[in-house]
Amino acid sequence: MGRALELARRGEGRTRPNPPVGAVVVRDGAIVGEGFHPRAGEPHAEVFALREAGEAARGADLYVTLEPCCHHGRTGPCTEAVLAAGIARVFVGVLDPNPKVSGGGVAILRSAGVAVEAPVLETECRRLIAPFAKHITTGAPYVILKSAMTLDGRIASGAGDSRWISSEASRAHVHRLRDTVDAIMVGIGTVLQDDPRLTTRLPEGGRDADRIVVDARLQIPEDAALLDLHSSAATVIATTSHAPAEKIERLRRRGVQVLEFPIAKAGGVDLCALMQRLGALGYQSVLLEGGARLNGAALREGIVDRVQIFIAPLLLGGDDGPSLAAGTGMPTIAEAKRLKDVRVTRFGDDTLIEGDF
Ligand SMILES: NC(=O)c1ccc[n+]([C@@H]2O[C@H](COP(=O)([O-])OP(=O)(O)OC[C@H]3O[C@@H](n4cnc5c(N)ncnc54)[C@H](OP(=O)(O)O)[C@@H]3O)[C@@H](O)[C@H]2O)c1
Repeated sequence: MGRALELARRGEGRTRPNPPVGAVVVRDGAIVGEGFHPRAGEPHAEVFALREAGEAARGADLYVTLEPCCHHGRTGPCTEAVLAAGIARVFVGVLDPNPKVSGGGVAILRSAGVAVEAPVLETECRRLIAPFAKHITTGAPYVILKSAMTLDGRIASGAGDSRWISSEASRAHVHRLRDTVDAIMVGIGTVLQDDPRLTTRLPEGGRDADRIVVDARLQIPEDAALLDLHSSAATVIATTSHAPAEKIERLRRRGVQVLEFPIAKAGGVDLCALMQRLGALGYQSVLLEGGARLNGAALREGIVDRVQIFIAPLLLGGDDGPSLAAGTGMPTIAEAKRLKDVRVTRFGDDTLIEGDF
């Protein structure tokens, strides 16, 4: 199942509306077939693995990170392919989180006489499909808040300098993360201060995620770096009725998607409405990359599912630099949001602390 997970990750960020899935066929203790779901419209992981195994699949074991599907989508049901191949035992990482499907694939296999063991390595398999699961059960994308801060909790200096708080190794990790998400979201304050490109820059290239700028008054400079990219990724600006109509038109003519949202009670773009809309547009995962005010609002609105904070061994001192999440926070420690399944990783001298809400 560990190998099936490794294979599944090759499809991460590329399979929507489907989840990433990996599969391995094992016979007499040796792998005879491997596969993963590369993108929607292409065969599912099981089909690739069974094809590679050929006749060796008869009487063999199949390990698959997600319950095999039992419905006719763009491709035939995997349960049929598993039965036709003569697989004897199926090990399933996690049941399909789609309430309409969950357990259906396993039931079909069992009633046809196939031994099914589920779940296997469930925590890892569930984490892999967390964006798919959140999207299919709530209609909204899975949001990862990622930030780099100093030891004293600042994400920039009082003068607005933030390059670079984190180490090269941390930043390389962020580019790997960008490669696996559907969209990257920032506030207009970050665009005005840093003029980021938000592209994925990996030694092997990588895939650019779409860029979302939260900009209630449409202040984005028309020469902003993220508007001037020869990238296949889209740029989406989430704004409100405060945006000037002529600027909306000019940006739309350049291919920028400008979407209008209600104004939140606290001012700015209504983030819950934005999340529902992004979900409806098919976005399963969003990487929130700051800045302070957008992070604060996102936490208060409860749209964040996972947090990844890089802590660098730096001290800026003072209280003039922006903190990780601006605005009013929780009044008591008891009400503080605590992360679950916390993982700590070192990147050079930085420490990454991550976990789920
Ligand atoms: N170290 C890091 O990882 C990191 C990452 C990113 C940024 N930064 C730093 O963070 C600083 C920028 O932070 P910031 O707080 O000034 O800007 P920000 O959070 O990027 O953007 C905030 C702006 O977004 C707009 N907005 C629209 N709807 C909103 C909503 N519902 N909630 C919150 N904001 C909304 C508001 O302006 P309108 O009302 O006009 O739309 C608001 O002023 C920069 O210094 C940057 O270098 C650091």
